[in-house]
Amino acid sequence: MDSQKVNITELTREISEKGQQVAKAPSRLNYHFMPQIGWMNDPNGFIKYKGEYHLFYQFYPHGTSWGPMHWGHAKSKDLLHWEYLPVALAPSEAHDCDPNIEGYGCFSGSATTQNDDLVLMYTGDVDSKEIPQTQNIAISSDGINFDKVDLNPVIPNFPKEATKDFRDPKLFKVADTWYSVIGTHNDTLGELALYSSQDLLKWNYLGILAQSNGKQGTMWECPNIILSSQNDFLIVSPMEGTVNQKPIYISGKANLEEPSFKQNGQGILDYGNDFYAPQTMDVDGRHILIAWMNQWFSKMPTADDGWSGAMTIPRDITIKNGRLYQTPIKELETIRIDQLSEIRNQEVSHLEQDIPEASELKFNLQIPADYAGKIELEIADRKNANQSCTLTVDLKKSEIILDCSNYSVEKREICKAPYEGTGDTIDFDIFLDTNSIEAFINNGETTITNRIYPEAKLKTMKLVCDNQKTFVVNAFSAWKLDKTI
Ligand code: FRU
Repeated sequence: MDSQKVNITELTREISEKGQQVAKAPSRLNYHFMPQIGWMNDPNGFIKYKGEYHLFYQFYPHGTSWGPMHWGHAKSKDLLHWEYLPVALAPSEAHDCDPNIEGYGCFSGSATTQNDDLVLMYTGDVDSKEIPQTQNIAISSDGINFDKVDLNPVIPNFPKEATKDFRDPKLFKVADTWYSVIGTHNDTLGELALYSSQDLLKWNYLGILAQSNGKQGTMWECPNIILSSQNDFLIVSPMEGTVNQKPIYISGKANLEEPSFKQNGQGILDYGNDFYAPQTMDVDGRHILIAWMNQWFSKMPTADDGWSGAMTIPRDITIKNGRLYQTPIKELETIRIDQLSEIRNQEVSHLEQDIPEASELKFNLQIPADYAGKIELEIADRKNANQSCTLTVDLKKSEIILDCSNYSVEKREICKAPYEGTGDTIDFDIFLDTNSIEAFINNGETTITNRIYPEAKLKTMKLVCDNQKTFVVNAFSAWKLDKTI
């Protein structure tokens, strides 16, 4: 079915034309993925194909708030420098398009390869239909132009254990069999439906793979699965009623034959206000995660400049002690262009450093013996100290707090996470960009991600151990990070 092709050529021209203007806006990020123009939400179809990484995304090119969903598309050799490609999917068929209403489009999904082809599985959504959400396949032999197959919808209905919220298929392959895990719910519990296929066109329903334990949300969006020799992991973006919650991982053992998932633990993936719909990619022995660095219904001041929505930096996921850790991908070291500071084994009263808008701050601190006070990192505009945000580790309360109220454009929750460190050192790796902060604490044990909207580009960071006269810095480095996009 080629009905969308003509429009896509026209649309690509329009997007790159308008994109030239948008690219000049001061609100543009330096090294985080963003749409050329318009609105972006979830990452989709994150995959390596013919030696290059492909990232697709929920995209509305005709406005800066959500509208009929397209799949935007970009590729990269290093997950940092992205080349925008033509829109991969646009609403065009009965199962993903109804111009008489507002809610429709090519909703989230994932990718796989079949022989030399790049194959996408996505949810077709048409709100006016009795069965609004179906699963569909689109195939490309060149990694750029996609054809929706004639057999669509390949999964035309939700199973009896589920309801009409039935979306975001995540493909994975075990031996010769493809599986697709799809987010849904029964009356009150989020759950995942599992399907299998030998050819990506004919799908067998296997059953419900996993279900909320009653405290994990009433609907599960954007599922992922990581299979490992010990624990397996599910990652879901739960909703409670109509409110989106912080994405969680659930550890346990998956049985794909007679679908079940025996839960044995869970954790919050990121304690920030701006982290949703993460998608993972299994590649070259790594699990790489990228997430939408926003949340539904938050204010997006960059819309005034013609764009809304960004992705987090890609993160490596590792499994340690039965839980997930997230660390910045090592490729990010290649964009450290200017080392601003380097300190090793020094006793200091405080650390202070001027930093540019795109920077990385990496610390390893010695926690003073018997210290149960606070360690505080403040990032403030150079000329106006009232414009600031603070990351605090409160050792007494075993709590991490990221307070970005002074950098916010609306009243948002102050982010709090448990401090889980037990050793006598503490690690911070902080990534700042024009309007974002991502904090990795203790080598990815805890992460907190927020959009911030500072007035000034130039900032100063200051670190203190508040009740201590001095403390020991085992290592501290700060870098300016390069522009990649
Ligand atoms: C998650 C989500 C998905 C859906 C998409 C629509 O953010 O609600 O469940 O497929 O966004 O754009």
